[in-house]
Amino acid sequence: MKKYDVRRCRIIRRRQLSNNIFDFTAEAGELAEKAVPGQFAQVAVPGKTLRRPISICEANRQNQTLRFVFGVRGEGTAALSKFHGGDFLDILAPLGNGFSLGDISRRALFVGGGIGVPPLLWAAKPFGKSSMLAAGFRTRSSIILKDDFESSGCKVLIATDDGSYGHHGLVTDLLGNLEFDAVFACGPLPMLRAVRLMASERGVPCQLSLEERMACGIGACLGCAVKLHHEDGTPYYGRVCRDGPVFDSRMLDKNF
Ligand SMILES: Cc1cc2nc3c(=O)[nH]c(=O)nc-3n(C[C@H](O)[C@H](O)[C@H](O)COP(=O)(O)OP(=O)(O)OC[C@H]3O[C@@H](n4cnc5c(N)ncnc54)[C@H](O)[C@@H]3O)c2cc1C
Ligand code: FES
Repeated sequence: MKKYDVRRCRIIRRRQLSNNIFDFTAEAGELAEKAVPGQFAQVAVPGKTLRRPISICEANRQNQTLRFVFGVRGEGTAALSKFHGGDFLDILAPLGNGFSLGDISRRALFVGGGIGVPPLLWAAKPFGKSSMLAAGFRTRSSIILKDDFESSGCKVLIATDDGSYGHHGLVTDLLGNLEFDAVFACGPLPMLRAVRLMASERGVPCQLSLEERMACGIGACLGCAVKLHHEDGTPYYGRVCRDGPVFDSRMLDKNF
């Protein structure tokens, strides 16, 4: 069975979550059955040669749907935001290696920054009440997916840069007193580095989802190289699209 495929996927639900964040659910056939939490799709943009990588926020295997939550950053995502219900997305998916959830009775901490929060939702759901999300956003109006996490039993802690909701400051300020057995994170690099340091100081396993500029998305162009380490410390270069985007934090170079 092929790991990934291209498919035209009809958008069956389109919502706007905030000023520039959009939430699409699309019929995806067998792509939805193959996907696991933490994987991503390469979405074609009309008039652009390169597809744009967007994480799979959730898959519903029974209904064969995939959900994508994305922010408008440049021309490609602006063009995607103009798609409507009934339009077709051209999707190459599921791509990359997702999260290894392991024992779902563990206390799992999810740490997300801004548009790094969507890839964590599907991974958090199986943990139910033993999961916690610490999420950082710019301001109150940019908070997304809080209800989705809470309705799966996850306890949600929010930090905003301007103090308009929750803790006034960095999401990493929230982590000090929390107790957990595993941590999963996605967001800006400084946040990921701080999460890795905190996890390593506590001796807790940590998986990080990296966002790198991508071209092919399938390991063919070397456009997303990242320095990694084997268990014995020998360095090598891997590809975020094929070897990640989720990595055990111990594999990443100290300057990732
Ligand atoms: C594995 C993966 C999963 C992703 N999942 C999501 C998601 O679920 N939701 C979401 O909103 N975004 C996600 N992204 C980021 C998304 O791919 C970019 O925002 C998008 O490609 C930008 O395209 P554009 O044409 O709108 O902007 P461009 O015109 O290509 O770029 C606009 C600006 O964004 C920067 N940029 C573009 N791509 C990236 C990138 N990959 N990482 C960092 N900066 C970038 C550029 O340097 C530039 O400053 C993901 C990226 C990766 C690699
Ligand atoms: S984007 Fe081409 S190898 Fe990763």
